Amino acid sequence: MPKVTFIFSGAETTVEFDRAALQYRRHGEPGSLLDVALNYGIPLEHVCGGNAACTTCHVIVRRGMSNLSEMQDEESDRLDTAWDLTPDSRLACQAIVNGDVVCEVPAYTRNYVGEGGDIELGKRKP
Ligand code: FES
Repeated sequence: MPKVTFIFSGAETTVEFDRAALQYRRHGEPGSLLDVALNYGIPLEHVCGGNAACTTCHVIVRRGMSNLSEMQDEESDRLDTAWDLTPDSRLACQAIVNGDVVCEVPAYTRNYVGEGGDIELGKRKP
């Protein structure tokens, strides 16, 4: 069974899971890092509900990048706007886990909605 380690501020939490037993919570792709996190009560931000429309689920993959699904254009385009982007960055809601992975959650995420940035729900900025 795959293991995923999430690192928050240096503290590690590892979960081992049976992909077939995950209860999909409709946040991100089924079997994604976000899906795994939410199934195990790991508080990973996901302001857009796992639709590749924010960057609050940004993670930096420390080990096991080849054990994640290939990045699609939609994820790549959104990820370009992430704070602290690295070559090992992924959106947790889009990266489907196929093997062991270690990922770190950056200290800050870009939350346009919560921080009153460029996006205002239901309105267009002039
Ligand atoms: Fe918004 Fe992943 S939750 S991009």
